[in-house]
Amino acid sequence: MAAPAAGRRRRGVLGVLQGRRIGLGVSGGIAAYKAVELCSRLRRLGADVQVAMTRNACRLVTPLTFRAISGNPVITGMFREPRRWSVEHVEFARWAELIAVVPATANLIGKVASGIADDFLTTAIMAAKCRVLFAPSMNEAMYENPIVRANISRLKVHGYEFIEPEEGRLACGEFGRGRLPDTGEIVQRIVSILTVGGGRRDLEGVRVVVTAGPTREPIDPVRFLSNPSSGKMGFVVAEEAAERGAHVVLVSGPVSLPPPPGVRLVGVTTAREMYDAVMSELDSCDVLVKTAAVSDYRPESVSGRKIKKSDAPLTLRLVPNPDILREAGKRKGSRILVGFAAETENLVENASAKLREKNLDLIVVNDVSREGAGFGGDTNAAKIVDAAGAVIEVPLTTKRMLARLLLDKVAELLSAKGRSAGRPAGR
Ligand code: CTP
Repeated sequence: MAAPAAGRRRRGVLGVLQGRRIGLGVSGGIAAYKAVELCSRLRRLGADVQVAMTRNACRLVTPLTFRAISGNPVITGMFREPRRWSVEHVEFARWAELIAVVPATANLIGKVASGIADDFLTTAIMAAKCRVLFAPSMNEAMYENPIVRANISRLKVHGYEFIEPEEGRLACGEFGRGRLPDTGEIVQRIVSILTVGGGRRDLEGVRVVVTAGPTREPIDPVRFLSNPSSGKMGFVVAEEAAERGAHVVLVSGPVSLPPPPGVRLVGVTTAREMYDAVMSELDSCDVLVKTAAVSDYRPESVSGRKIKKSDAPLTLRLVPNPDILREAGKRKGSRILVGFAAETENLVENASAKLREKNLDLIVVNDVSREGAGFGGDTNAAKIVDAAGAVIEVPLTTKRMLARLLLDKVAELLSAKGRSAGRPAGR
């Protein structure tokens, strides 16, 4: 989304970030000057921006520039005066709904990843419970350095977010990956974090069970029936729900993803194991989100020994697995049930039929024949259908964004039932 220019904004029209509190951390990369433009764009969208600069950033851009653009005194160290707050690093961390570190140097990322807090910005990030977004910018060799990669991975596991640098001419004159993305892209990311679920605690205390991944149905000790589900959709739903304050149990088939922070992971293999795990959690949950691609059938009998090859055709007799969601629908009570439907045609009709048959509140349908949607990737294009037949069209987007939109809808249904705690933004 392009930020509307101040001059073009109509009187009385509020920016999409009106009143949102953004801590803008600026570390000492050449791209620090681009953070000035970012600060200006965020202000024009209505945000209150508090800038905190590292010592080296102050050598590249003067704090006075940020002061003029942000309209707030700039924090340049732990002990500077005058102060906006008395215990400034803690207050800054509490105040901010989002801390965006733009640019983030290898040094700053390394320090945060190692738990070092030796200046204002790193100390404030350590004290922060809000979302933290890093926009790394550095020479390509530095960005590709395995130590930097490991630091980024480590921070991601802890829920820190990153916006990838792009390829282009770098300050050192080389061409490669390491350039700060376009300011508009960073603005868009910040807007999406702050406006679509991000930073909210609207699922505080809600008990959510999410299922993810495929199931495997053994044929013999070395073979099984399964599908290509990666589990990404379910993992991201679980992670987002936990970030929004829910107690989350993630029942997952075999996948190769790290468990999301703050989520209880229950690993299962077969559909029947998933059935047992879900049924034992069902009584104590408020919301069930079934992203799992459950095998509808399993071999009637599992050979105890490896089936040997022969020239004769081999017939496997399959028997139906229990439909976990259908069973949950029968025991629904006041729970919110969300299904996922993989379809290749008549998307909304087929999904609506599943919603009715399984007694669901919402169903997310994706066209698995479409490129970029469904199994495996990081993106999805879907429609969210509710019990009244209303359809939300979600264009091709990240699975994370789809998860946020879905949880927005879940939070809406919960609050209609008077169930949501709905704590205001900020952690
Ligand atoms: N589901 C389930 N248990 C099964 C099969 C499906 O809980 N044995 C759930 C899935 O997790 C998903 C929803 O039902 O949330 C729809 O799954 P999908 O495979 O699209 O539909 P099916 O009901 O299996 O129907 P079909 O395969 O004929 O399209």
